[in-house]
Amino acid sequence: MRLEDRVAVITGAASGQGRAAAKLFASEGAKVVAADIDEGGAQRTVEEIKEAGGEATAVKVDVSREPDVRAMVESATDRYGRLDVLFNNAGVGYSASGRMKMASVVETPEKDWDAILAINLKGVALGCKHAIPVMERQGYGSIINNASINALVGLPGADAYTAAKGGVVAFSRVLAVEWGPRGIRVNCICPGGVDTPMIAPVISDERVMQSMRQNTPLGRLARPEEIASVALFLASEEASYLNGAIIPVDGGWTAH
Ligand SMILES: NC(=O)c1ccc[n+]([C@@H]2O[C@H](COP(=O)([O-])OP(=O)(O)OC[C@H]3O[C@@H](n4cnc5c(N)ncnc54)[C@H](O)[C@@H]3O)[C@@H](O)[C@H]2O)c1
Repeated sequence: MRLEDRVAVITGAASGQGRAAAKLFASEGAKVVAADIDEGGAQRTVEEIKEAGGEATAVKVDVSREPDVRAMVESATDRYGRLDVLFNNAGVGYSASGRMKMASVVETPEKDWDAILAINLKGVALGCKHAIPVMERQGYGSIINNASINALVGLPGADAYTAAKGGVVAFSRVLAVEWGPRGIRVNCICPGGVDTPMIAPVISDERVMQSMRQNTPLGRLARPEEIASVALFLASEEASYLNGAIIPVDGGWTAH
């Protein structure tokens, strides 16, 4: 029970990596606040956790809206009395491409640029803004931000997404420096290709899938659980000396 008596808020918990992390954290003893803009999906995550004997509650949040994020943090403290772990995982990518253009900056409408940055970067900032004061009072906290290998290497074609994820990496570092002295560790995960609904629209193209396999020394996509296990490690006391780390979880993509 690596998270016994810990309270964890996970954004984007209705799907993919967030759902996998919510289930894994709960199985390790955490009380989980499963937050997502997709309330029904978050509720399903909670049902799966409860069926397995865990404790969780679902919260509807749009991470780009400060009142929602404030309420999300309050729901953790009101219900469970504290907040130990924040996994800032919610994001939009290719699955949102009907609504927001994932393209070169030259082809990205300003409103789409703003919307992608608002969710993928400001959303992380707002989560930290409201969680950190609670963690500071406790003298304890672990924040994990989900960026992407797009932040580490130049992958053409989703420039707003890439700019946001690069911002998440830099933001994670500065928070680690600012808040480490007060007992709050901040670390960042940079996944490669993960088999979730986010990239379904692009991996259905066999040529894209083939190039992803070629770029990944392990020759395959990650399962969401393989990212969740790294988040669990960072959340737990096993990572008690990790702060400000930017960790590629990419099957070796960024190693070459
Ligand atoms: N799948 C990949 O290949 C991949 C690679 C690198 C990084 N990532 C990052 O991993 C994170 C998780 O993505 P995933 O792969 O599990 O995708 P996913 O699409 O399965 O899950 C994303 C979740 O975020 C939620 N969400 C979207 N906008 C939101 C908002 N405004 N407020 C609250 N919730 C919102 C969605 O409803 C969804 O449940 C994202 O930050 C993504 O950018 C994904």
